[in-house]
Amino acid sequence: MNRHHAHISLTLACLTLACAALGVAGLLGGMTASAAALPQDQRAIVQIGAGGPEVLQLQTIPVPHPGPGQILIRVHAAAINPADYTQLGRVPSDADRRVPGMDVAGVVVADGDGVTDRPPGMGVFGIVDSTGLNGAYAHYAVANVSSTAPKPRSLTFTQAAGLGVVGVTAVRVIDEAQVHAGKRVLILGIAGGVGSSLAQIAIARGATVLGTASPRHARYLRSIGVSRVINYASGNIAAEAGHVDIVIDTVGGNEALQSLEALGPAGRYVGIAHAHVTPEQCAARQIQCLGSPGPAARAPAAAMLQVAQLARDGNLRVHVDRTYPLTRAAEAVLYNHQGHTEGKVILLVTPAANDH
Ligand SMILES: NC(=O)c1ccc[n+]([C@@H]2O[C@H](COP(=O)([O-])OP(=O)(O)OC[C@H]3O[C@@H](n4cnc5c(N)ncnc54)[C@H](OP(=O)(O)O)[C@@H]3O)[C@@H](O)[C@H]2O)c1
Repeated sequence: MNRHHAHISLTLACLTLACAALGVAGLLGGMTASAAALPQDQRAIVQIGAGGPEVLQLQTIPVPHPGPGQILIRVHAAAINPADYTQLGRVPSDADRRVPGMDVAGVVVADGDGVTDRPPGMGVFGIVDSTGLNGAYAHYAVANVSSTAPKPRSLTFTQAAGLGVVGVTAVRVIDEAQVHAGKRVLILGIAGGVGSSLAQIAIARGATVLGTASPRHARYLRSIGVSRVINYASGNIAAEAGHVDIVIDTVGGNEALQSLEALGPAGRYVGIAHAHVTPEQCAARQIQCLGSPGPAARAPAAAMLQVAQLARDGNLRVHVDRTYPLTRAAEAVLYNHQGHTEGKVILLVTPAANDH
């Protein structure tokens, strides 16, 4: 992110009385007004080494600058993903410190060169390619335009923060598994962020959706249209599910292997959990085993725009399990890591008026 490549635009914040009161308006001409309005430094959660949540500290770091094709976002909310915990166990690679967090929602405050469709002041959500001192657990973060979309008006920033990674993952998996009307789809781990997104998109396509979850999630899952909730502790999942056309697995392990019994020879399995079923195990049962779509941060721009459209149409909602202030990010990461999240866990960074 090169400061000289950044075409820093006037922020909407600068159009406010508050900005005028700061004397920023008087700096117009010659010097970019918002560059002066934007702080040089910010408070952010920084990973200072390898370990557990204790390696997360609140520190002062520079505000990043958007390069070509990038935007600088003032972060209102960020979401937790299971990978955030996994990353804590690794020494930051490209720097001795890193800011975690991929999922973000906020307002554009500056555009890099070549950006025309995310003007300053626009509400956006998306994925930050969290490397070095640029991540979502911060007040300001840079994202590639292709990894963002305009925030649907119907969603709060708190909800929109939880859309990116799980939404993009879900649309790609649903496409790959060829889910459409008339199919019976079994989703393992249906109450989590990815599982609940998969369920909503599959239901919007006309599929009949059932899934495994603990019973405490049944009320939420029925509210989004899930036909049957199978308690994963109850024994034989395949017998409970009956015949299904497609299994989508966010859990792995024995449960995933058991679920294959519910598929006929023309069945399809897609696994995105760490310990998913192997191609050899699928081949032994003459089942088509499809691979994970790869990192959400590398998804094509069309996937993020599809997620935004689904949300605008009311076909993809984010259920907020818990919120934490940014300063308690370590607790939020630990809570999600315990593995029982219903929907998403969200960090509140700089709350917006009415959260819209
Ligand atoms: N691109 C990718 O490949 C990609 C992207 C995103 C996520 N992932 C992976 O997908 C997995 C799920 O991610 P997520 O974000 O959805 O996680 P999450 O939001 O933390 O949800 C985990 C869910 O799994 C449920 N669960 C735990 N054990 C279960 C079991 N044996 N059977 C059924 N449900 C169980 C939990 O609820 P209860 O135990 O309370 O029922 C919880 O609702 C993770 O391994 C993640 O790394 C992959």
